[in-house]
Amino acid sequence: PKEKGWRTEHLYQYKSFWLSLGALKGVKRTQQCFKAQPTDILLATSPKSGTTWFKALIYAIMNRDRFDDISSHPLLTKGPHDRVPFLEAIIQNEVSYNDYRTSSSPLFATHIPYSLLPTSVKSFGCKIVYVFRDPKDVLVSNWNFMTKLRSKDLPSFPIEDAFDLFCKGVSHYGPFWDHVSDYWKASLENPDRVLFLTYEDMKKNPNVCVTKLAKFLDKSFCDGEEDQVQEIIKLCSFDNLRNLEVNQTGVQHFSSQFAIENRHFFRKGEVGDWRNHLTVEMAQQLDQITKQKLGGTGFNC
Ligand code: A3P
Repeated sequence: PKEKGWRTEHLYQYKSFWLSLGALKGVKRTQQCFKAQPTDILLATSPKSGTTWFKALIYAIMNRDRFDDISSHPLLTKGPHDRVPFLEAIIQNEVSYNDYRTSSSPLFATHIPYSLLPTSVKSFGCKIVYVFRDPKDVLVSNWNFMTKLRSKDLPSFPIEDAFDLFCKGVSHYGPFWDHVSDYWKASLENPDRVLFLTYEDMKKNPNVCVTKLAKFLDKSFCDGEEDQVQEIIKLCSFDNLRNLEVNQTGVQHFSSQFAIENRHFFRKGEVGDWRNHLTVEMAQQLDQITKQKLGGTGFNC
C-alpha cells in the first residue's frame, strides 16, 4: 500500500516500514552491497532526531587525536553531512562509496530500521549509536523541514495532517516507535555494540553524554582532558555549527532527484519547541502512543 508522504512523493510500506522510492532503493542496495567491518561505526536515527549534531560529535570524537588545534578543525571547512555520509545514499554511488570506504575509520549515518540492516552489520559487530528524540519535537521538526522543502505551487500542508499521518506511523522510515523500539531492544541485548542515547540527554548533560559516547567508541577521555570535552561540545553546538559558512551554503545530494541545502538542517535546535505548534490534546495523544508502544520495553523517556 502507498500513502502520500510529506513531500510530493508517495511512501511505500516495505516490511512494515514506510519508505520513499529513493529510500527503498537505498535500503535494498545497502542490503546487497554493504559488508560491515568491525571498525565501522553507524549512527542510526529516525529523521529529525539530531542526526546532524551527532554526526559532528562522533566525527569530532573519533578524530580527536588528529586535531589539537580546534581553529583548523575539518568540521569548519566541511559540514557534518559531508564528513559523515548517509550509508543508504553514498552506497548508490560506487566511486564515492569506495573512496570513502578506504578511509581509516569509516563513519556512516543511517535512517534504516534495525530489522532492515544487512546481516553483516549484526554479525560482524560494528558499533551502532542510536539517537532518540521526543517524537513531539521530531514531528514538529519534520513538519517545518518538509514545509520548507515543499514546492510553493502545492497546497499548504497543515500540521494537523502531518500529525494524523505520524500517529498512524506514516512518516519517512516510520512508524517512528517501531524504529525506536527495535534499536532499543538491540541496545539491551548487546550494550557493547549498540549505544542508545537521547537528544534531550545530550542537551541536558553534554559532558556526561560526550564522555559516554567517547568511551563506547574506544576514544575515552583521560583525566586532564576535560578541556577537550568542552571544546568538542562547543564546536558541535547548534549556534557554532549553524553560523559556519560551510553550513549556511552548500547542498547535499542525497540522490539524483533529491538535494537539500545544508542550512535547512539547522532550525531551532531546542528541546520542547512542540509547545509552539501542537495543542495539549495532540501532545497527550503522542505521549500516549509512546507509552503504549515503548512502555513495556523498559524504555523510560
Ligand atoms: P529543530 O527542527 O527542532 O530545530 P536531523 O539532523 O536528524 O535532520 O535533525 C534536525 C534537528 O536537529 C533540527 O531540529 C535541527 O535544528 C537540530 N540540530 C541541528 N544541529 C544541531 C546541534 N548542533 N545541536 C542541537 N540541535 C541541532
